[in-house]
Amino acid sequence: MPHCRVCQHETLERFLSLGPTPLANRFLNREQLEETEPYFPLDVYFCNTCCLVQLVDIVPAQVLFREYPYLTGVSSPMKTHFAALAEEIVQEYHLDPGSLVVDIGSNDGTLLSSFRQFGTRTLGVEPAANIAALANTAGVQTINQFFTPALAEDIARTMGPAKAVLATNVFAHVHDLDSFLQGASELLSADGVLVIEVPYLVDMLDNTEFDTIYHEHVSYFAVRPIVAILTRFGMGIVGLTRIRVHGGSIRVVVQKSRTQQARVVDRFLTLEAERGLSFVRPYHEFAQRVHSVKDELIELLRNLKAQGLRIAGYGAPAKGNTLLNFCKVGPDLLEYLIDTTPAKQGRFSPGMHIPIYPEQRFHLEPPDYALILAWNYADEILEKETAYRQRGGGFIIPIPRPIVV
Ligand code: TMP
Ligand code: ZN
Repeated sequence: MPHCRVCQHETLERFLSLGPTPLANRFLNREQLEETEPYFPLDVYFCNTCCLVQLVDIVPAQVLFREYPYLTGVSSPMKTHFAALAEEIVQEYHLDPGSLVVDIGSNDGTLLSSFRQFGTRTLGVEPAANIAALANTAGVQTINQFFTPALAEDIARTMGPAKAVLATNVFAHVHDLDSFLQGASELLSADGVLVIEVPYLVDMLDNTEFDTIYHEHVSYFAVRPIVAILTRFGMGIVGLTRIRVHGGSIRVVVQKSRTQQARVVDRFLTLEAERGLSFVRPYHEFAQRVHSVKDELIELLRNLKAQGLRIAGYGAPAKGNTLLNFCKVGPDLLEYLIDTTPAKQGRFSPGMHIPIYPEQRFHLEPPDYALILAWNYADEILEKETAYRQRGGGFIIPIPRPIVV
């Protein structure tokens, strides 16, 4: 019996099995198509003691994050989001020119570059060598390492304590949460803030966002387990809001030595209690909906195909590979995928081996229908592709349940 990564109790209950699945960001080149692809179980568990939803089949971070194709800067909605986040942090928490901002999992430096206009000092920490190099070339100083307490101590010694430590879209990836929080605490100034943005479990359940489950995401957070972990570190939440990004996330602002939680936390805890998130039942219900989405999507795609229509995939996000592999949607149904990320173009999707092209392909050889795998940007994509739609092209949005628009 596996034990819970956070509370150590042997009280895990599996509620969803997505089956053996390849790694979501391991896009293949032509030679790799001939090799055996590594597959790992993708099963999701609920802990009956601390309520953390989690994976137990852990793929080492060194395997997942040393080379990484994903770039924040290629999705313009994310650039807009991060520019607003930078401004809010500077104003709300009174950062001065000279204040140090450290971004953990800083990717290509998109978020840190939004701090430039405010004159703060910035430092990125990014384990993927290829991406850290891009950020450094773009002039965003970035250390190519995993974030550890030792590194935090190093940074604090050489650059001074940080007024803001940012952890956007990285907290769910962290295997050892204790070490992560110890490092953040080490690095923060007494009045500094740790800003976490992480997909919210309530949104995942409400919208049946099962495709956000992949090996990189080892935890799926409600507020309650976050409070429990922070409390152990003597840290407290000073700000908590729901945000739109990645299908619904929360922004959690944390200070060390802040024992009292902000009053807004109670509202979230009440919401989560009302949803019954401390019991396994809503998770089993979620799993049933996941299977319905699979059945409906396959039926829809097969019907279109049977009418002789051509279908492509719009975007090749990591989550798209969970969806394609779980639903067994391969090149027989989707002719190609398009994606704006250079490192994905010319490659093949993991598992299903669908070829990926730059966006131009979509305009040169428009399909009859496009399955929006990057559904978190559906509004922007529909707006961007009005010409395609005016010529009669259709879009399919797969979740909360498949619809044609
Ligand atoms: P994300 O949801 O994890 O940010 O990934 C989105 C993926 O979709 C990323 O690979 C970039 C791609 N993308 C497009 O190809 N076209 C677009 O218009 C947008 C917004 C994203
Ligand atoms: Zn637990």
